[in-house]
Amino acid sequence: MKFFVDTADIDAIRELDSLGMIDGVTTNPSLILKSGRDILEVMQEICEIVHGPVSAEVVALDSEVMIEEGRKLAAIADNIAVKVPLTWDGLRACKVLSGEGKMVNVTLCFSANQALLAAKAGATFISPFVGRLDDLNIDGLELISDIRQIYDNYGYETQILAASIRTANHMSECAKIGADVATAPPAVIKAMANHVLTDKGLDAFVKDAQQAGIKIV
Ligand code: E4P
Repeated sequence: MKFFVDTADIDAIRELDSLGMIDGVTTNPSLILKSGRDILEVMQEICEIVHGPVSAEVVALDSEVMIEEGRKLAAIADNIAVKVPLTWDGLRACKVLSGEGKMVNVTLCFSANQALLAAKAGATFISPFVGRLDDLNIDGLELISDIRQIYDNYGYETQILAASIRTANHMSECAKIGADVATAPPAVIKAMANHVLTDKGLDAFVKDAQQAGIKIV
């Protein structure tokens, strides 16, 4: 499973990229707001660091304006994936932009039917939001599993990009289901390294190393 990081924080992107942990980046207007940066400027900087797909989201609701915004975003770098919402206008924009050879990430997907439509419209990525469904007591991981089954039934090439990932457990579950990609905040990616038995074991080894007077460098 590929990892994308869901942030516009340059320092966090640089750190994860230098460790080889990320294959791409996703952003949205809320993350751009949090960064306090101009969208075109920050997207360009991200694309200079990460060479995999970098999602930049349109803000228009009307398909014609979305297409215009998508073209402008895609002109920033070859690895931009234009992110459009899963609305009828968004699907129309997806069809046009993907027909022009641009990568398109269809976002705000909350049902298997929406994912089917995105695949028909030629989406490169479909972004089902796991955490936001869980917030409503609806099993977000079940949606990932349903979409996997449907796409496999018909050989759709649209990649399942599990989004709204809130926990390290979501990451391993998405990998078990067979999501192509999962996008998560930096803290969730880092939390994947944690285990209580690792901490406990390390405590004991540190104490024993001190007692044994072990010094290696
Ligand atoms: C995905 O592309 C979105 O940017 C993101 O995963 C949304 O996550 P949230 O529900 O935690 O805001």
